[in-house]
Amino acid sequence: MNEEGELKGLRDDVYRRPLATALQRLGLGPGWRCVDVGAGGGDVSVALAELVGRDGRVYAVDSDPLARDEVARAAAAHAQVIALTQAGEDLSLPEQVDLAFCRFLLLHVLDPLVVVRAMAAAVRRGGWVVAQEPITTAGRIDGLPLSMPEARHPDVGALLPALMRDAGLQVVDAWAEAPAGVGPGPVADYLETLTGVDPGDGPVVLPPLVTVIGRRD
Ligand SMILES: C[S@@+](CC[C@H](N)C(=O)[O-])C[C@H]1O[C@@H](n2cnc3c(N)ncnc32)[C@H](O)[C@@H]1O
Repeated sequence: MNEEGELKGLRDDVYRRPLATALQRLGLGPGWRCVDVGAGGGDVSVALAELVGRDGRVYAVDSDPLARDEVARAAAAHAQVIALTQAGEDLSLPEQVDLAFCRFLLLHVLDPLVVVRAMAAAVRRGGWVVAQEPITTAGRIDGLPLSMPEARHPDVGALLPALMRDAGLQVVDAWAEAPAGVGPGPVADYLETLTGVDPGDGPVVLPPLVTVIGRRD
């Protein structure tokens, strides 16, 4: 398994709770039409598919053509997931959706506002844009700040409410959640796979994930 493959399983484990909180807060349910931008291995797409059911639809969009195969594998039991190779900046779907979602995407893109604007344009009036992005330098290993210098915008989570507003969306809710732990377990494993640092017995706080729920008026 490659590094992103290993991270994918662990990410799904340690960041499952923030995802569940966001989807519950939204009231996502049967029949919704969604897009998951920067879908990667499809963890979020599958979670969305399980909630929207057979009458719903999930477009899993990623700029990397390899992600399409990964999503197809992950979502094999979910006929409502349609994997597309597209850049988030050029998002173009066959229909307007109720929800545009992204997680761990904006830290990697050239200009996060361009992508949030494209997501806003993809939803119907009254629809939702939800982003979950980290503040990587607010993570801690044994009390010391964690950093992720290879990401273009490692602390984009801290800017997320303003990005949503600047994209013309109404910020309905915004909060941050961070998995934490000490000793062996998924939190330590995730950190080691992400950074190469083994935290040993030191306490770890993973980068808080800021969630913003925006509505298109
Ligand atoms: C860290 S992964 C996150 C995957 C998934 N959202 C999750 O939370 O598990 C980031 C993904 O964003 C994709 N990506 C990066 N830049 C993109 C862009 N401009 N448009 C669409 N996808 C992009 C990458 O190919 C990668 O699959």
